[in-house]
Parts: sequence; structure tokens; C-alpha cells
Amino acid sequence: MKPIKNVVIVGAGMMGNSIAQVFASDPHLNVVLKTRVLKDDRYEPIANNLDIMIARGAATEADKKAILSRISFVTDDAAAYTDADFVIECYPEVMETKQDLFALVEKFCRDDCILATNTSVMSPTEISKKCRRRERVVGAHFWNPGHLIPLVEVVKSDFTSEEVMQATMELLKRVGKKPIYCKKDVPGFVANRLQHALWREAFYMVENGIADPATVDEACKYGPGLRWPVMGPMENSDLVGIELTNNIHKYILRHLADNHEPSRLLQEMLDRGELGFKSGKGWQEWTPEQMKASSDGLKEYLIDYAAKNKK
Ligand SMILES: NC(=O)c1ccc[n+]([C@@H]2O[C@H](COP(=O)([O-])OP(=O)(O)OC[C@H]3O[C@@H](n4cnc5c(N)ncnc54)[C@H](O)[C@@H]3O)[C@@H](O)[C@H]2O)c1
Repeated sequence: MKPIKNVVIVGAGMMGNSIAQVFASDPHLNVVLKTRVLKDDRYEPIANNLDIMIARGAATEADKKAILSRISFVTDDAAAYTDADFVIECYPEVMETKQDLFALVEKFCRDDCILATNTSVMSPTEISKKCRRRERVVGAHFWNPGHLIPLVEVVKSDFTSEEVMQATMELLKRVGKKPIYCKKDVPGFVANRLQHALWREAFYMVENGIADPATVDEACKYGPGLRWPVMGPMENSDLVGIELTNNIHKYILRHLADNHEPSRLLQEMLDRGELGFKSGKGWQEWTPEQMKASSDGLKEYLIDYAAKNKK
């Protein structure tokens, strides 16, 4: 496999733009964004992301200039894929569209080019179905916003070669990401399985009158959530001890939510037209100011985290 130099991102939507910005932070990579049309304002989403980062000290004007200069946009398939070393698709979440895209890319690219999919939930094994070389297809699941969240889940399909897994992990480390190695192609990969195990329990507690929604959020924000940036569950279990962990689980597991269907509260809210931010009411009521403060608060927290961890 050739050293990776030419990275192609397919689809200049929300994730594609973020991911292009990430790869273009490496001065030794050429980054191509494959789009359908060349819009006059094509650089704007990435420039905007960078301006917000500059305002909070997470990037400099020089970073912005260098990153934008390393990204080119192309519409032609041959121009995009012929010299590609690593292609990552950020297409709409439609299985057939992703399968057809990779089959098309294979018509142009070299045999050792890696094909990565940024799918959030779909099986990389299934996405590789129409490919000649299924061993080159790998999951590379960035979390939104892709330029701010360090985690990328690298997912081994039933066919992905170890060489492709390692090359993908190395590339992501090189551009400052924290890739994790997901050994099996399972729904939810690693991080969404963890996240939705917690959400299931959260919704269960509200449904059963144990705590109201704001209380559940406070329990996370002011309690275990403070540990998570520095200590995950495995390390935490070692810290408190395996014996204690075992005793706690012997007692508590039978009491935890284990439903295989969504909470009935979700359907009830949907029936009432309560869609969360979209309608101004979900688990709680939201004014426009509160919604803005909530989403801005998360963005600012992530940008400050990026500023603190900037090389
Ligand atoms: N949005 C998220 O929070 C998030 C997080 C992680 C992963 N993902 C995954 O990333 C992928 C992209 O998601 P997104 O949110 O960026 O979607 P998006 O709709 O913002 O972007 C998709 C892009 O693909 C482009 N596209 C569609 N057909 C095309 C074609 N034939 N040629 C070139 N471009 C084409 C669209 O114009 C659009 O710009 C999906 O698989 C999604 O599940 C999304």
C-alpha cells in the first residue's frame, strides 16, 4: 500500500466539509472534495467553521489560510478518484446510494486505494456489497461536528483487511483524531451502543416516574458525566475494584431497563407533535433563546476543548 497523500471526500454536506477541514490540517495531504456542482461559495462552510474557531483561540488566521489552500473541489469522477489513496464517502444515509458510489469509485481508483464510509448506522459489510475488493472498505465514523469531536470509530467489516484497518487508524492519528478500533461490524458500533444504553435507561426512569427529564440531565452533567472525559467505564471499574463491580451488578442489573422497543413516551410525544427543538417542545419546553443557548453552549465547550488540546 502506498503512503497516503491524496484524500478524497465525497459529498460536501455538513460532515464532508468538516472532514475535509480535518484532513487539510496536515500539510502533507492533498484534499479533494468531490461535489456535483462547483458553487461560488463552496469554501464558505469551512471558512465559517474556522472563523468561529479563530474567535475562541482554537485556530489562527494562518491555519485558516493553509487549510483552505490544501482543499480543492472537483466534479469529475476520473479527476477525483484516479490518484486517490483514501476516499471517504459523506453521502446521504441511503444504502444503495453508498453501494453504487463505491462500485463507481472502484472503476477509477487504484487497487490499493482505501474506501471509507462515514455512515452513522449502516453496516460497512453491506455497503461494500457491490465492490470488487471488499477488503479495502472500512467504516470511519466521525462524530458531528467532525472538525471538533476527536473520536472516529474505525469499523472492521466482515471483509476489511488488517492492513486497511491499520492504515486508516494511522491516517486519523496523523490528523489529530482519536480513532478507536471496532473489531466487529455491529449496529451502533461502539460509541452509539454506549450512548443509547444510557438513553434507554434515562427514558425508562422518566417513563416510570423515578425522575423528571431535567433531573436525569443534571445527574449526568454534575455527576458521572464529569468523570467521562478522563475515565471511561472500564478504567472506572478497575478503580473501584472488580469485586465491587461484580457485587453491584449481581444486585442491580435485573432492575435496569432492557426494553427492545423505543419508550412509549417517544411515540406519545410524536403523536402530540412534540418534536424537540423542531417544535419548541420535547422532554421540556424550549424558547428560541434557550435553544440557541443550548446549541451554542455545546459548540463553545467543544471549541474550547479543541483550543486546549491544540498542538
Ligand atoms: N449529520 C451528522 O450528525 C452525522 C454524523 C456522523 C455521520 N454522518 C453520516 O455522514 C453522511 C453524510 O451526512 P451529512 O449530515 O453530511 O449529510 P448532508 O446531507 O449534509 O450531506 C450529503 C451531501 O452529499 C451530497 N451528494 C448527494 N448526492 C451526491 C452526488 N451524486 N455527488 C456528489 N455529492 C452528492 C449532497 O449534495 C450533500 O452535500 C451520512 O452517511 C450520515 O449518516 C452524519
